Amino acid sequence: MSIPEIYKQWFLKLLLGPGDTMTFRKYRDEPLDLEGIDNIYIHVPFCRNKCPYCPYFKELYYEQQAGFFGDSLLREIELHTGWLNGKEIQSLYVGGGTPTLLNTYLIRAIDRLRVVCTLQNVAIETTPTEINNRVTVELGRMGCNLISLGVQDFNPKYLDFLGRKYTVADVFRAIDKLEQLHYRNFNIDLIFAMPGQTLEELDRTLQIAVDTGANQLTLYPLFTFPYSVTGLSRELSHVVMPDGKTRKQMYYHIRDTLTAKGYKQVSVWSFLKGNTLKYSSVTRDKYLGLGPSAGTYTGKQFLFNTFNITEYIPITIRGQIPGSYIMDVSPRLERLFWIYWRLYETKIPLNSYKTRFGSDFMKDYGKWIQIMEQLGYALRTEDQIELTKKGIHRIHLLQNHFALEYINRIWTASTMEHPPEEIRLSALH
Ligand SMILES: C[S@@+](CC[C@H](N)C(=O)[O-])C[C@H]1O[C@@H](n2cnc3c(N)ncnc32)[C@H](O)[C@@H]1O
Ligand code: SF4
Repeated sequence: MSIPEIYKQWFLKLLLGPGDTMTFRKYRDEPLDLEGIDNIYIHVPFCRNKCPYCPYFKELYYEQQAGFFGDSLLREIELHTGWLNGKEIQSLYVGGGTPTLLNTYLIRAIDRLRVVCTLQNVAIETTPTEINNRVTVELGRMGCNLISLGVQDFNPKYLDFLGRKYTVADVFRAIDKLEQLHYRNFNIDLIFAMPGQTLEELDRTLQIAVDTGANQLTLYPLFTFPYSVTGLSRELSHVVMPDGKTRKQMYYHIRDTLTAKGYKQVSVWSFLKGNTLKYSSVTRDKYLGLGPSAGTYTGKQFLFNTFNITEYIPITIRGQIPGSYIMDVSPRLERLFWIYWRLYETKIPLNSYKTRFGSDFMKDYGKWIQIMEQLGYALRTEDQIELTKKGIHRIHLLQNHFALEYINRIWTASTMEHPPEEIRLSALH
């Protein structure tokens, strides 16, 4: 058993009780408790190229299949118009894949949602090769006010390593076009800790990213998922990834550089400048997920849609929710999920916990916070628990382990020819 695995088992033993199983079972059309949801996520599972390192669910883009998907997405929305009617939805995030490939369908989907409910913010992610005048107009038409561009690096050497099919000049052209939009936040995604990357190279990319004037910079270390080509390909399997010490040094460098330039850390990976809304697709509290592989979290249930596009289409034609696996979430787990995402945001606001769960955070988890304070991982102020630089780094290692392990288990099971009846995420029961 690896060290993070030992830690994980230890944490789970201490934090969970006998009834808190973390087991997904096959979804069989049972009712969902959707009323409290105020966020929506749409997953668009198509890209023009499959980047070798990318673990997200997507297929190569073919216009006809994408059209079938678009029609199914519109049908899936219709399944929810009843309970969505008159609701105020805080955010609609459209991710992928490359969502902007499906703009004509997204315009129809968003128009339909706007008839039924209020969308406070519409967020979309895209990639430099997709941005042109037409797409920019379409993004404006959709009312996208949070935009994330996957740049990955400003160094041609690493764009090439990552299999990205554009030049640095293309990136600047895309940024110039996106600047024409009236957005509240423009985020740039970058990847660091690539094989052979030096601190100087990272620093140069960081400086260029800062100079673009983007409101938010999100920097992920290169993850190697076993099911992405990075994990499998023979060509890349002998590539030596930077060791833990180098990754930590790079991470600290990013944090120190960006905080010195006036950015505030808003999640383990993201840094925001100015007083604007952050771009964050994963930290919503309760959300409805639409499209293949999308997750829905109601606070009481956690559902994954099917990972199979050819299965997704007929299910929506039958007028059913395209769920594949569901997990019941016990009240204790619901709190832990909430805390997990606040730790990801690097802060736990004590009042929000009280509003959400009706009890006092320090009463419920005070002894854990004391241990974290003693280890130098957290600082307590009157209204929040804030992770320190050391704490953020340690917690992110643990969260990475959790996320990669769990996503990998769900993904592997969901894409099997004969998917199992159950997927157990925790070995405790
Ligand atoms: C789902 S992708 C969508 C963005 C868009 N399709 C693009 O590629 O520009 C969102 C982000 O995940 C990050 N990402 C994808 N695979 C990764 C990996 N293996 N390690 C670290 N970050 C990764 C990239 O920074 C990417 O911009
Ligand atoms: S990184 Fe973006 S463009 Fe590349 S395969 Fe993943 S989702 Fe598609």
